[in-house]
Amino acid sequence: MRLPSIVVLISGSGSNLQALIDNQGSDYKITHVISNKKAAYGLERAAKASIPTSVHNIIPYRKRHPDDVSAARADFDKELAQRIKELKPDLVVCAGWMHILSSECLRPLKEAGVPLINLHPALPGAFDGAHAIDRAYDAFQKGEITKTGCMIHWVIEEVDRGEPLLIKEIEMKKEESQDDLETRIHSVEHVAIVEGTNMALAHRA
Ligand code: GRF
Repeated sequence: MRLPSIVVLISGSGSNLQALIDNQGSDYKITHVISNKKAAYGLERAAKASIPTSVHNIIPYRKRHPDDVSAARADFDKELAQRIKELKPDLVVCAGWMHILSSECLRPLKEAGVPLINLHPALPGAFDGAHAIDRAYDAFQKGEITKTGCMIHWVIEEVDRGEPLLIKEIEMKKEESQDDLETRIHSVEHVAIVEGTNMALAHRA
């Protein structure tokens, strides 16, 4: 029986991709990795695991629309959706993917029946967007929060606001450095990304 196929989107070191690589084989197969940054170390991780990769970078689109950033992003998103559709995955996993996907990408994938999930290193609605760990740490120092966490959620247009599939809470500790908190969060993410991927695949019709 064919294993469900997943395409993983990355932008950086790919430690979450590595967790997916280390756990593939019985529940899913990573058929392609796409990075929006050609220098992403995650591309090397995929290559070492003999997983096909491609780079989908914004620069060519900025050159095509030198005076219109939104047109460049729309083209980038449209063609990303087209590339993903051609790969025919059962699921797209955004694992450290640092580009906001607009409806130009999400609508065609929805019409093609390709769901997307995203890993976000914060609790639902707490610190949407970038630098979530830094912002949680600062809020803890100010006494505003006592816990943070990470989640896997369905991707919708509203950034990091899709319905959560999996939420893992992390108690924050006094005297803990930001680096140590970040290390703890990443280790929880590496479990969540695999669990959340399997949960999303179980949702398929
Ligand atoms: C993770 O914390 C992820 O939640 C955030 O960026 C980081 C990516 O790490 N979006 P990696 O590239 O998977 O190592």
